[in-house]
Amino acid sequence: MRYALTLAVLLASFAQIAVATEGERFEWTKEKFDFVAAGNPAEGKKLARRFRCKKCHNDDGVSDDEEIPSIAGQRATYLFKQLNDFKNKIRVNKDMYKSARKLSEEQMAHISAWYESLERPSAVGGQPMLVMKVCDSCHEKDVVEEDNKIEVAPILAGQIRQYLETTMLQFKEADRSNDLFERMQSVSHKLTDDEIRRLSRFYGAADIEYE
Ligand code: HEC
Ligand code: HEC
Repeated sequence: MRYALTLAVLLASFAQIAVATEGERFEWTKEKFDFVAAGNPAEGKKLARRFRCKKCHNDDGVSDDEEIPSIAGQRATYLFKQLNDFKNKIRVNKDMYKSARKLSEEQMAHISAWYESLERPSAVGGQPMLVMKVCDSCHEKDVVEEDNKIEVAPILAGQIRQYLETTMLQFKEADRSNDLFERMQSVSHKLTDDEIRRLSRFYGAADIEYE
């Protein structure tokens, strides 16, 4: 009896390891787009409060910390996928894992709808760079689709500048690799660190004031 129990526990822990290492690679389908579109902002507002997102992202979803992105006014589809990726450790971040692991997909859809409905800070802009035509060809669209490979790019304008720079450098080094078809990894690989800095300044919101 004791043996049987141990075996069951062992097998269960193997199954967990298999899930944890493989993760669940995200895939966009029409059903999933519909699911996210059905997210309810009022419900999401309550959930965001219950799960204390404001501790880091503030009440209005606009960050005042250089390491924390603003999530206000971002596409719900993008937010939904990131929450999934954090939960499945495909995008690795300890703080966000702790928050996302408790959320069901339905709660993620509501929370994403809530933050999408909030107002986003505007970008400061400046001297545009030629390469931005390439960036905008994906980032200004709701859906990026090529050879039936579908994904969603986030709105860049108005994001925290330092966060933009850090996350792009992470794509470049493959420390962030949750882009479905490695499009962002290959784009950032072609940029110099200085170009990444200048792009971040262009797309980002005004520098934040630190306390
Ligand atoms: C303890 C601080 C903390 C808490 C609490 C927290 N976050 Fe985050 N969040 C972060 C950090 C830090 C990042 C950036 C992670 C990285 O650099 O990869 C982030 C990133 C995100 C992103 C990705 C944004 C992007 O532009 O890619 C989303 C979406 C998000 N958080 C939503 C939430 C939601 C919803 C909650 C509440 C359920 C929450 N966060 C709670 C710290 C936090
Ligand atoms: C072929 C399409 C494509 C092109 C071109 C592209 N991106 Fe992206 N980018 C994406 C996708 C898709 C994501 C989201 C990946 C994910 O699911 O996490 C992304 C994510 C990002 C992020 C992360 C934002 C956040 O909130 O975490 C930044 C920053 C970024 N891109 C900057 C740029 C810049 C700057 C350029 C131009 C030099 C560029 N991208 C060109 C598709 C593209």
